Amino acid sequence: MQLLRTTAAVRRLVHAWQESGASVALVPTLGNLHAGHVSLAGIARRRADRVIASIFVNPTQFGPGEDYASYPRTLRADTAQLRAAGVDAVFLPTVRVMYPRGDRDSVTVSVPGLSTDLCGAHRPGHFDGVASVVLRLFNIVTPDVAVFGEKDYQQLLLLKRMARDLHLDLEIVGAPTVREADGLAMSSRNQYLDAGQRRIAPALYATLGECRSQLLAGNRAWGRIERRARQRLEVAGLRPDYVAIRDARDLAPPTGASRSLRVLAAAWLGRARLIDNIGVRLR
Ligand code: PAF
Repeated sequence: MQLLRTTAAVRRLVHAWQESGASVALVPTLGNLHAGHVSLAGIARRRADRVIASIFVNPTQFGPGEDYASYPRTLRADTAQLRAAGVDAVFLPTVRVMYPRGDRDSVTVSVPGLSTDLCGAHRPGHFDGVASVVLRLFNIVTPDVAVFGEKDYQQLLLLKRMARDLHLDLEIVGAPTVREADGLAMSSRNQYLDAGQRRIAPALYATLGECRSQLLAGNRAWGRIERRARQRLEVAGLRPDYVAIRDARDLAPPTGASRSLRVLAAAWLGRARLIDNIGVRLR
């Protein structure tokens, strides 16, 4: 597995792969990898002849007071996992490489609507940072396929919309959320939870499951279902930012005609902000 630190090195390698007729999949990450990331690499492996992952703690997607400085940097363990997952190369850029003019004064990409709703409303600028770094990665790597986890469902839709709007010639693939045995979605931030909080954390997924059951039972009182879910989270000891039932296609509020829904939630537990979502297919 090759470790690449410059855009020129990435371009050279990917160009050689593409010249030989190989397709290329990209798995962008912030590092501090877990089984969820390994599953993204596995999906990439099945989708393309060559797989390149990136590890970059992207400063532009962290807001003031968020965990940019303390985000765990675990390069050795990360590269070992990627090697075991069959990844061919890892791009390890610095901030200077990704943002040659500096991270505060560079071109920003914004996806209207989606970037300021739900998590975007609670983390202003977050999705502009995500779109801006992912577009740079797409331009450097020029992959045929890029794989992102469905745990960040809003991010996945936003990146798909960016790709469509900007006529990017690649396929964006969503990968199912990988969960702990008790239902908690795997996340690097789960390690911020102490033992007591870790016992409470599965309440997030359980609450989404409860919303799903109500929707499947025919309840269409979206607002009431959301309010009850928030209360349930509060009683469990979480501090919800939101619980929202949305149309799965575009995250707009559902209408009577919506058949594919997504229930999304974000909640604080200690210093961890947990997010999760669940799909609901109505008949
Ligand atoms: O989902 C993530 O890990 C990040 O938002 C991403 C897509 C790697 C961009 O920094």
